[in-house]
Amino acid sequence: MELQYRESLPDQHAYFALFESTGWNREYGLTPEELHAAAGRSWFLLAVYRQGRLAGTGRVVSDGVLHALIVDVIVLPECQGTGIGTAILTRLIERCRAARIRDVQLFCARGKAPFYRRLGFTDRPADAPGMDFKGSPAPAAEAS
Ligand SMILES: CC(C)(COP(=O)(O)OP(=O)(O)OC[C@H]1O[C@@H](n2cnc3c(N)ncnc32)[C@H](O)[C@@H]1OP(=O)(O)O)[C@@H](O)C(=O)NCCC(=O)NCCS
Repeated sequence: MELQYRESLPDQHAYFALFESTGWNREYGLTPEELHAAAGRSWFLLAVYRQGRLAGTGRVVSDGVLHALIVDVIVLPECQGTGIGTAILTRLIERCRAARIRDVQLFCARGKAPFYRRLGFTDRPADAPGMDFKGSPAPAAEAS
């Protein structure tokens, strides 16, 4: 099946539907407009179309030099298992390498580690884990 790759922002509603297919938005509560704004600020975004329909996306949030974070690698459920996720991730990594970004990371969704490991990612060491901020930000006065 022929795939088309585009580096432009997908249609807001198609992208929102793709994002919703993951279930992540139950936690984030993003509107289509907010998701579109977030995606539009990506350092690099790749969208894949199959028969003219948005089938998958992935994007990189980055400073362009030192750090890059690969986020929102998503393939439509009915298109999963056909190599699209691999094709997206490979291209995101290539783009980071071409820019010689030194530190390329990602957050791995539950159960997806094998997918990333086979493409060269390694788990962070247990004594240097990635961490999520879940508390409330300290007011500036308290922090000083
Ligand atoms: C994870 C995801 C992007 C993979 O995309 P995909 O197009 O289905 O993956 P591919 O078809 O390229 O699969 C590549 C290989 O990884 C394997 N793989 C895919 N998902 C896997 C998983 N959850 N666990 C183990 N292996 C997995 C496939 O079996 C395949 O192996 P093979 O080539 O030996 O058959 C896709 O399942 C998805 O969008 N999931 C929902 C959103 C999500 O969780 N994204 C990840 C955010 S961290």
